[in-house]
Amino acid sequence: SPVRLLAFAGSLRAGSYNRRLIPVLVEGARAAGAEVTLIELRDYPLPIYDGDIEAEGMPEQARRLQALLAEHDGLLISTPEYNGSMPALVKNTLDWISRPLADGRSGTALFADKVAGIVSASPGPLGGLRSLLVLRDALAKLGLIVVPQQVAVGQAADKLIDFGQLNDERQRDAVHRVAAAVVRHLKVYQGAPA
Ligand code: FNR
Repeated sequence: SPVRLLAFAGSLRAGSYNRRLIPVLVEGARAAGAEVTLIELRDYPLPIYDGDIEAEGMPEQARRLQALLAEHDGLLISTPEYNGSMPALVKNTLDWISRPLADGRSGTALFADKVAGIVSASPGPLGGLRSLLVLRDALAKLGLIVVPQQVAVGQAADKLIDFGQLNDERQRDAVHRVAAAVVRHLKVYQGAPA
C-alpha cells in the first residue's frame, strides 16, 4: 500500500511563506510515490487548549484532526519561527491531537512510529532554523521519527514568491530530499515484519 502523509503549514495568514513552502515538500513526497493530504489549519480552528473545554466535550475540529492522523503514516510540516520557537498554533494543534480519543484510546499513540519531515521559512537570514530544533524535539516526544534532513528557507520574501514556487534550485532539491527521506523510511518500516 502506498505511503500516506498528512501535510500542513504552521501559519494561518494568506501571504504566509510557510503556506507557500509546504507545496514544495508535498511535491517531493508525491514524486517519491506517497499519497499526500494537504490541509489548511485555518479549516480546523481550535481554541487554546483548555481542560475545561475538553471536559465539556472535545472540539469537533480536534476529533477531525485525530481521525486524519489515524489515516496517515506520517507528517509533513512547514513551520514559522516565533521568538526562536514554533508558533503556538503548531504546538496547540499537536496538543489537541494528543488528547484521548472518543473510545478512550491514547491520542499520543496516534503519533507512535509515524515519520515526519520538517521545513521552515522566515524572512530572516536563518530561515526559522531554531523553530525546527524545537519542533523536532516536540515531535520526537510524541513518538514520531523525524528524518535528519531538514531545510530552513531564509530571505523568504525573495525566494518564496508564490505557492510551491521556491526560487532557489538547491534548496528546492533539499526540500524534495526531506520528503523523499520520509517516504524511504516508511517504505523500509512497512516492508519489515512487525
Ligand atoms: C516572528 N518572526 C520571526 N522570524 C524569525 O526568523 N525568528 C524569530 O524568532 C521570529 N519571531 C517572531 C515572533 C512573532 C510573534 C512573529 C509574529 C514573527 C517573523 C516571522 O518569521 C514572519 O512573520 C514569518 O513571515 C512568519 O511565517 P509565515 O506566516 O510567513 O509563514
